[in-house]
Amino acid sequence: MTFLEIEGIDSLQGEVQISGAKNASLPLIASTILAKNEVKMSNVPNVADIKTLISLLENLGAKTHFENNIALLDTSTLNQTIAKYDIVRKMRASILTLGPLLSRFGHCEVSLPGGCAIGQRPIDLHLSALEKMSANIEIKQGYVVASGKLKGAEILFDKITVTGSENIIMAAALAKGKTKLLNVAKEPEVVQLCEVLADAGLDIKGIGSDELEIYGTGGELLNFKEFSVIPDRIEAGTYLCAGAITNSQIKLKKVNPEHLGAVLAKLHQMGFQTLIENDNITLLPAKKIEPIEILTSEYPGFPTDMQAQFMALALKANGTSIIDERLFENRFMHVSELLRMGADIKLNGHIATIVGGKELNAADVMATDLRASSALILAALVAKGTSRVHRIYHLDRGYENLEDKFKALGAKITRLEE
Ligand code: EPZ
Repeated sequence: MTFLEIEGIDSLQGEVQISGAKNASLPLIASTILAKNEVKMSNVPNVADIKTLISLLENLGAKTHFENNIALLDTSTLNQTIAKYDIVRKMRASILTLGPLLSRFGHCEVSLPGGCAIGQRPIDLHLSALEKMSANIEIKQGYVVASGKLKGAEILFDKITVTGSENIIMAAALAKGKTKLLNVAKEPEVVQLCEVLADAGLDIKGIGSDELEIYGTGGELLNFKEFSVIPDRIEAGTYLCAGAITNSQIKLKKVNPEHLGAVLAKLHQMGFQTLIENDNITLLPAKKIEPIEILTSEYPGFPTDMQAQFMALALKANGTSIIDERLFENRFMHVSELLRMGADIKLNGHIATIVGGKELNAADVMATDLRASSALILAALVAKGTSRVHRIYHLDRGYENLEDKFKALGAKITRLEE
């Protein structure tokens, strides 16, 4: 098994280029099921989750080519509508094929993704929305078996769901008639999906708001234009935290600062300054790192995907920070690993209390999910000695060229085999 060896250091410096967003690329790749033409996407990150979804499309009969961050996807040859357990179990986001497959073929079977390290993660909202659009849904032998010609409907999401919104937007694209969606997720990844579909000829109103009106084509496939995936705001936030935890000056290139509002606001509250020029952000060191209070919520609130990294950062603050995780019930798996490095963190339900200022010591720690793993890297950067982060396949799911990027910033990080 591969692991990362990371030496504690005093500071980082230099520049890092941010990749395209994994969580934007995934629905966009799934959306090519709605295309009549071969789709060319650029700035697609070369990470495991993307390769998994592309292989799922191949498995369904698509022709694909992925090289140099450019994906060419031709789904005109699709001849299967079963997304098998073997692939879906590797990545929950495979559920994003449910909406477009059903919308295009009137039938599909997608393995239920099951729970994961960060919580139970149900898909009931995806399914009830499809039922409202006249789909027949059954759960058979671990698969969602969906059938029916989709019709437009009015759907109010009980909770804001990112992939749920994306799935239903794609389902509505080829449905017959108008679908009105209320309480839709407004994450930049959802917005890009809508923009790409609108460019492909879909009549969709309200893009960027929590209320969408989609006039389905009644089965006619869309004519996609070439596009480039938006920058990964979570990868950007993770490198900003790397600069912050080492109290260094670093520069991020190819980011969209507008997508990072809540993250930058928290860094500013902690005493860091940032300089923004076009698509670059420079982080400047803080005179004194202040403690912080964070409540995770939907966009434009503070992202749950940055909670673990800010917890690592709070370990360097002068005082006690509070993090309230509101989206996922079990997203504190990194805490027990951080404790092994000497952190002082107390958990009470969904609230973590972090006492900053304690010296961290290097340790062997285990990654449990994608973002938890990046928090362990951040802590290892400032721990005394050499830490080893195990089970890094979680990191490879979502961070492109992680060691090269950290090395470019001056970190001492090596990938080794156990
Ligand atoms: C997306 O997951 C992201 N994944 C996650 O990124 C991210 O943490 C999450 O949104 C929240 O921002 C992708 O975009 C591929 P949700 P998703 O449905 O869509 C509840 C990462 O590290 N819910 O918005 O699965 C759910 O349990 C990851 O890159 C229901 O109750 O999240 C949660 O409490 C991991 N029923 C809340 O809604 C449903 O049917 C929000 O989840 C669906 C969701």
